[in-house]
Amino acid sequence: MPTQTNRRDWLKQNSLAALALGFALPSMANEEGLLRSFGAAEGFINLGSNENPYGISPKAKEALLGMLTEAHRYQFNVASLQGFTKQLSSYYQVGADQVLITAGSGDSLQMLARHFSKGNLVTAAPTFATLPNTAKKIGTKVIEIPLTVDKIHDLPAMLRAINSETQLVYICNPANPSSTIIPPGVLENFCIEASKKAMVVIDEAYIDFLNTPDNRSMIGLTHQNPNIIVVRTFSKIHAMAGLRVGFIAGHPTTINLLDENYFRNSQITVSNLTMAAAAASMKDEAHRESCKQKNAAARQYTFTALKEMNIKCIPSYTNFLFFPLGKYPGDFAQDMFKKNVILRSNNYADGKWARVSVGTMDEMKQFIGIMKADWKA
Ligand SMILES: Cc1ncc(COP(=O)(O)O)c(C=O)c1O
Repeated sequence: MPTQTNRRDWLKQNSLAALALGFALPSMANEEGLLRSFGAAEGFINLGSNENPYGISPKAKEALLGMLTEAHRYQFNVASLQGFTKQLSSYYQVGADQVLITAGSGDSLQMLARHFSKGNLVTAAPTFATLPNTAKKIGTKVIEIPLTVDKIHDLPAMLRAINSETQLVYICNPANPSSTIIPPGVLENFCIEASKKAMVVIDEAYIDFLNTPDNRSMIGLTHQNPNIIVVRTFSKIHAMAGLRVGFIAGHPTTINLLDENYFRNSQITVSNLTMAAAAASMKDEAHRESCKQKNAAARQYTFTALKEMNIKCIPSYTNFLFFPLGKYPGDFAQDMFKKNVILRSNNYADGKWARVSVGTMDEMKQFIGIMKADWKA
C-alpha cells in the first residue's frame, strides 16, 4: 500500500492504466474499468462522471442520520419507508403497481438488457453504454444507429432499423454523451410507433435539468402502453450517486412481469438509509432548483469560454458538455488527467470528442484555465 506522501502518484499511475483500459471500450460513457477512487483530496477536479457537485439535500442528510437507528432492520420492516413507492407513484402520477425501485438506474438498465435478450436491440451510437454493453456481453445483437451531424438521435433511421427480431429499443433523453434532447412531442410519436413492434426504454437520467416544455417525461405513456418503460435515477439532480437509488416506471403488466423475473430481488438491494434520503430529497424542491440554476450558470460559462477558444460545444441540455477535439494530436483525457482534471474523450467515426461534466463555477474556471494554457488543436 502506498504511503500518504506517494498516494497521489500511486493513484495517478494506476488510474492511467485503468483509463487506458477504459478507452479501449466502445464508448466513453461506459464507466466500467475506470478506477476513480480519488477526488478533491488528491487534488483532482473530477469532471468525468456527470455527478452533481453540490451534494445531497440537507433534508436528505437529516433523514439519513435519522434512519441510522434503523440500520439493523430490513427496509421492509421500517414503517416510515412502506410508503416510499406510494410517494414515488403519487409524485410521478402513476399507480403504485407501475413503479419498481432499483439500486440506481444502472441496475435497472442491466436487468432490462438481460430480460429482453432474445432478439436484437436498437439504439443510438454513441449512447450511454450500460444497457447496450450488457446486451453485447450476453450475446444480444446490438443495432447502433449513428446520431445526426448535430448529435441528435436519428429517430426515422432508428424506426427503420426495427425489424421482426427487435425486442428492445433504448433511447437516452437527454442523451449521454451528446447532451442533446428530442422534443417531447417527437419522442412521444416515436415511442408510440416503435412500441407497436418492440419494448421501448426511455432513460430520463438528466430530464430534471430541462426547462418547460422540454422536461415532459414519457412516464405518462406507460399508463396505457405495456411496451413503454421509463428509467429514472436519483444520482443526478438529487446528487445521490453514491447512495444508489433509481426506479422503473411502466405499465402494471410489464412491472409485474419484471418484478416476478428479477426485481423483487433487486429491491432488497436498496438500503433503508438510501430510501429515507430519497424520500426526503423528493420533498426538497428548492435544493433541486438551486442545483439546476448553478449547473446552468457554470455550463453557460464553460460553453462561452470554450467558444472563445474556437471549440464548438454541442448546445447542452444537461450537466455535461460534448465537444469535438479537431486535430488534437494525442489522448486528450490522459493529457488532462496528468493535469489533475478527470474527463472523458474518445475516437468516433467522425473524429475525436470529449465530454466534460459541469462542476462548480470554481472548478469550471480552473478547467478553462488549464485548457487555455495547453490547448493544442
Ligand atoms: C444516461 C444515464 N443513465 C443511467 C446512468 C446510471 O446512473 P445510476 O446508476 O447512478 O442511476 C447514468 C450515469 O451516468 C447515465 O448517464
